[in-house]
Amino acid sequence: ALTQLRLTPAAGRIGAIVHDVTLGGDLSAETVAAIEAALYEHKVLFFRGQQHLDDAGHEAFARLLGQPVGHPTVPSVDGRYIFELDATKGARANNWHTDVTFVPSYPKASILRALELPEAGGSTVWANTVAAYQDLPAPLKTLADSLRAVHTNDYDYAARPDASPEAAELFRRVFVSTTFKTEHPVVRVHPVTGEKTLLLGGFAQRIAGLPTADSQALLALFQRYVERLENTVRWDWQVGDVAIWDNRATQHYAVNDYGDQPRLVRRITLDGDLPVGVDG
Ligand code: SIN
Repeated sequence: ALTQLRLTPAAGRIGAIVHDVTLGGDLSAETVAAIEAALYEHKVLFFRGQQHLDDAGHEAFARLLGQPVGHPTVPSVDGRYIFELDATKGARANNWHTDVTFVPSYPKASILRALELPEAGGSTVWANTVAAYQDLPAPLKTLADSLRAVHTNDYDYAARPDASPEAAELFRRVFVSTTFKTEHPVVRVHPVTGEKTLLLGGFAQRIAGLPTADSQALLALFQRYVERLENTVRWDWQVGDVAIWDNRATQHYAVNDYGDQPRLVRRITLDGDLPVGVDG
């Protein structure tokens, strides 16, 4: 029998809240299949009340959806796959990005759980990059289809307004301890849904083969469609929440509006595949 999840939309074009599911490594294959189907449809899923999940449970659940991968430069906190973002140590992902696009086969999905939160603020916003592509006027779709972009982890951290510049600099040093650079199509055909997605975000440094000024103008032009508020959902975290996103169809931004208050989240990313553009 087909397992039906109880879902509530979280916004008009992206995001759904999943009810009545206790995440862990013991979910049935039917429930896992239903979660995957919902993920591809809604791009980001939210689960409240998952305080029972520890690092091992987080990983056991992640393994039901794919193969966990470590971050290319930032050591995991558990010696395995847990990537921690601790705001007090300068980890504030307050730029629009898709996770780890600076490697060729970047992660297909990420699973994030909230352990400690500021009293207010510290939300995360996701954008639907399929909707962004669909919003492009036809001539811009054709243009985007033909372009490739260079992605690198050595991007402009200077633009990030962090609470503590010293902590931010420490985090940056670890993050770029090895520099990665890779080229992707600007329009990626999603390997599961067949949808066309705009593959850009904070690690996209320039459009291949164009002068810097033209490249900057085009990146800003396309990125504007991603960031259109109609294409986004904003999640106000509670401790114990889990978010899963389709990293092949979204960008996200962690809102940095909580000063020097603590904020601690942990993430596991799942191994991905080489992006394929519209021409195969
Ligand atoms: C991330 O960029 O993966 C983390 C987002 C967040 O801290 O909310």
